Amino acid sequence: MVSAEKSTHNLHLHHPLSLIPFPFPLVKFQTRVLDWFDKHGRKTLPWQKKPTPYSILVSEVMLQQTQVNTVTPYYLRFIQKFPSFMALARASVDEVLELWSGLGYYARARNLHQTAKIVCEQYGGEFPPDYAKIIKLPGIGRSTAGAILSFAFGARHPILEGNVRRVLARVLGIKEWPGSPHVMTKLWKWALCLVPARRVAEYNQAMMDLGALVCTRRFPRCLECPLSGMCVAYKEGEVHVIPVAKPSRLKPVKRALFLMIVDRSSRVLLERQNERGVWRGLWSFPHCDGVDEINRTVAIYGVKTGALQFLTPFRHTFTHFHWDITPVVLQSSRISKQKGQEDVCWYPLDASREEPSLGLPAPIKRLIKLLGTF
Ligand code: ADE
Repeated sequence: MVSAEKSTHNLHLHHPLSLIPFPFPLVKFQTRVLDWFDKHGRKTLPWQKKPTPYSILVSEVMLQQTQVNTVTPYYLRFIQKFPSFMALARASVDEVLELWSGLGYYARARNLHQTAKIVCEQYGGEFPPDYAKIIKLPGIGRSTAGAILSFAFGARHPILEGNVRRVLARVLGIKEWPGSPHVMTKLWKWALCLVPARRVAEYNQAMMDLGALVCTRRFPRCLECPLSGMCVAYKEGEVHVIPVAKPSRLKPVKRALFLMIVDRSSRVLLERQNERGVWRGLWSFPHCDGVDEINRTVAIYGVKTGALQFLTPFRHTFTHFHWDITPVVLQSSRISKQKGQEDVCWYPLDASREEPSLGLPAPIKRLIKLLGTF
């Protein structure tokens, strides 16, 4: 969560009605949103069946950067394996990352794990229904806190994740990038004014659903939108330019060779990523910057390798950089592990053999699968 979100949270303490003029009656806005929700909103998502602070927290953290369809199977597996704060707090970080494998943004998993530990150690396993306490938990920003308070406790708190931001930016006709701090401040004021006193959870879900299903980024369905009559972007024909895109800063490009060292019993060597990298705690192939470093890198693992086979390069994009990766397959006669024993593992390529429970980033999972077909 960006710090700008956190720094404005005490706006709750002031009633902001006096701060901004309303271009339309609030009640009309709320009624239209709630009537739309009754007819078209999502009411059967797995985390809506029996909302608890724990289930809402897990789902909201997963949904922070990921769409509902992708999240659903991950959520179901996660809740089954870790049904409570207690169960999650007791798990090892490897077990948690294993269930997060492929979902990306792994800091979310580590923060969630930390939060479960704090809830158990400091709050006796009961999630505190208190904004000031919730906002201090790792990985919980203002919007996620609002989602938990409204969905799990029925408290009157707004949310402002990406979908809601887009709806409000269009309705209000905001022609600046909505992520900038001063626009965020304005949007939070609006979000707070607009949230109704009753049916808060349904209203919040409705705003997200409107953004996800109607007020979509590329092809919004304005003719089906309950807010088109009060939408500045619609009236001014600017739906396609709002929300304004983030000013682009070119991402740096890094390059690496992924060394897929395969032994005679069809296992591939994986290494736990250290504390500094983007995949810290997860397992990946040893890698190096260029061809002339391959031999030196391989030697670290005490293996002898034969012929190299270069596979098709691909790009994996992180928030802050692109990673252009060339996978290289090296057949090896296995010798001994020289690197720290616990940070290296020979992972079976034959799917029928029992796979160790490790957190694997999506591209690594894909490459392992590919190697299994060789
Ligand atoms: N994105 C974030 N939270 C969500 C929710 N509860 N439902 C749908 N999309 C979401």
